[in-house]
Amino acid sequence: MAFPVQRLRRLRQSGPIRNMVRETRLSVDQLILPLFVQHGTGKNEIASMPGQYRLSIPALLKETTKAFRLGIPAVILFGIPKIKDEFGSEGLDPNGIVQQAVRAIKKELPELVVITDVCVDEYTSHGHCGVVKDGKILNDETLDLLVKMALTHVEAGADIVAPSDMMDGRVGAIRTGLDKNGYHDIPILSYAVKYASCFYAPFRDAAGSAPEFGDRKAYQMDPANRREAFREAALDIEEGADIIMVKPALPYLDIIRDIKDRFDLPVAAYQVSGEYAMIKAAAEKGWLDESRAIYESHLAMKRAGADILLTYFAKEMAQILTEGQ
Ligand code: PBG
Repeated sequence: MAFPVQRLRRLRQSGPIRNMVRETRLSVDQLILPLFVQHGTGKNEIASMPGQYRLSIPALLKETTKAFRLGIPAVILFGIPKIKDEFGSEGLDPNGIVQQAVRAIKKELPELVVITDVCVDEYTSHGHCGVVKDGKILNDETLDLLVKMALTHVEAGADIVAPSDMMDGRVGAIRTGLDKNGYHDIPILSYAVKYASCFYAPFRDAAGSAPEFGDRKAYQMDPANRREAFREAALDIEEGADIIMVKPALPYLDIIRDIKDRFDLPVAAYQVSGEYAMIKAAAEKGWLDESRAIYESHLAMKRAGADILLTYFAKEMAQILTEGQ
């Protein structure tokens, strides 16, 4: 049956009817707020991410308290060390900045889920996500560092670890390392499908982690590939991942949908720094309505199949969800 019997506009004619038939709904329960933590006191704004800061621990506690009060259940932490070196030593230090931050948050807000990013790039002088030798990023040698880093995070009180390095075998190595030390119950949120994307640029500005030479194409995925995403996800699941992530989000909605249809694990999507910066920049110029752009882009990730959203707009989303746009 077609027009004039069918008229799709019948169900679009009023707010209450539209609300009733809405297929996708967002909830604050599924938001994770990424935060950058550094030594010292106070905070400083990240030039390419207006509204986002490198936070000292006291400033971080203020921020996490605000997020928690808005109903945001989880944060993911990225560390900015005092000194960067070849092996990213501060990343593995039980007294490193992230480890200190985890302890501080868990002490103040025990119910807030603290996730840590497990990767050496924020801590290495060369900015790569692994051990470098003769201009190559070594896979197996990096796994040891990742396991050690994950253990120091969990010992400090992290609730979930999230490896973002894209070395082969790292989920399995971390799972084994955690289990051997009695941490069977700590979930792994794997950056399973992580593309070599230009949209990470503001993050690298924030963490000073742009690679000193070359790029990340020898370990992150080629943006042209779809089937390879299934292989990445399948391997991580076999190795023990509990949640699989697709990153970036908006330019890869097709991949989020594919992964959701193929696998039964919860799927996370990360609206990365460059996606944040685009919305912010357009809104600043008055070219987009910021809160509508935030809402629509998050709705799109959810509609594509994401169960969990990692987003720098988590607080704004929480506000939009409680107060409306
Ligand atoms: C690596 C890591 C990166 C991001 C999250 N974890 C940077 C990279 O791969 O270069 C990017 C997140 C973002 O752009 O918001 N530790």
